[in-house]
Amino acid sequence: MDWGLQNRIHRMFSPASGNTVMLAVDHGYFMGPTRHLENARATIAPLAPHADALALTRGILRHAVDPTLTTPIVLRVSGGATILKEDLSDEALTTSIEDAVRLNVSAVAMSVFVGAPHEHESLVHLAELVDRGEQYGVPVMAITAVGKELAKRDARYLSLACRVSAELGAHLVKTYYCEDFGQVVEGCPVPLVVAGGPKLDSDRAALELARNAIDEGAHGIDMGRNIWQSEHPVAMLKALRAIVHDKATVREALDILSREKGTPKAKNAPTTA
Ligand code: R5P
Repeated sequence: MDWGLQNRIHRMFSPASGNTVMLAVDHGYFMGPTRHLENARATIAPLAPHADALALTRGILRHAVDPTLTTPIVLRVSGGATILKEDLSDEALTTSIEDAVRLNVSAVAMSVFVGAPHEHESLVHLAELVDRGEQYGVPVMAITAVGKELAKRDARYLSLACRVSAELGAHLVKTYYCEDFGQVVEGCPVPLVVAGGPKLDSDRAALELARNAIDEGAHGIDMGRNIWQSEHPVAMLKALRAIVHDKATVREALDILSREKGTPKAKNAPTTA
């Protein structure tokens, strides 16, 4: 692997834990002004310093993020469909690698739609993006199973989607946590990070998801709604960092959450993850 490419990857992962906490704020590219992300600048500003990377589009990066920010950027470079369409898989590459380099990003990211009507196009686009990324030393993160593909979130499907992405050259893969997640990890030769998906019933559930994913071999999270749709986004992000980087149990993470929220420790919380 070329020096520049390796260096960009290492910017995003903690040398101590080997893991990363990415903050996903790219939802608007197909969902529009998602709840609590209507004013992207206001949502991102307090969170960005606590993230190891920010995952977003060039529009939000240019218009809602201060250029003095040193947090690494994972730039989403695919798009072309919205939630108003039946078929979300009709995406193409929407940002050139030259623009990604101009924006000084640490990685580019795109969705792959395995099993969807535009499976073929999304996989060919992934291979093309890897070729372009390798030319400039920019790693590529494949994102599996977004939108309606979420319905297929099981180990068999996600193993297939993640492995195909790695085979086509993705340097990192973002996927979803599922039962038997270890099987997904085992079949994927590149680091996996997990998304959170729609807001879960509680902060505890999101912390448990992160704990389980790390325990089963994920190298981090790339989480959005379960952070910035939480009532206490910064506290939630700090609690997740403790899980991803410091081996915190769910109980310990809940204590961090309570402390950061300025409320008493969680009562009657189980003592194990
Ligand atoms: C889809 O909109 C994006 O790939 C998100 O970045 C991804 O789903 C992670 O965000 P969340 O944790 O909200 O699912």
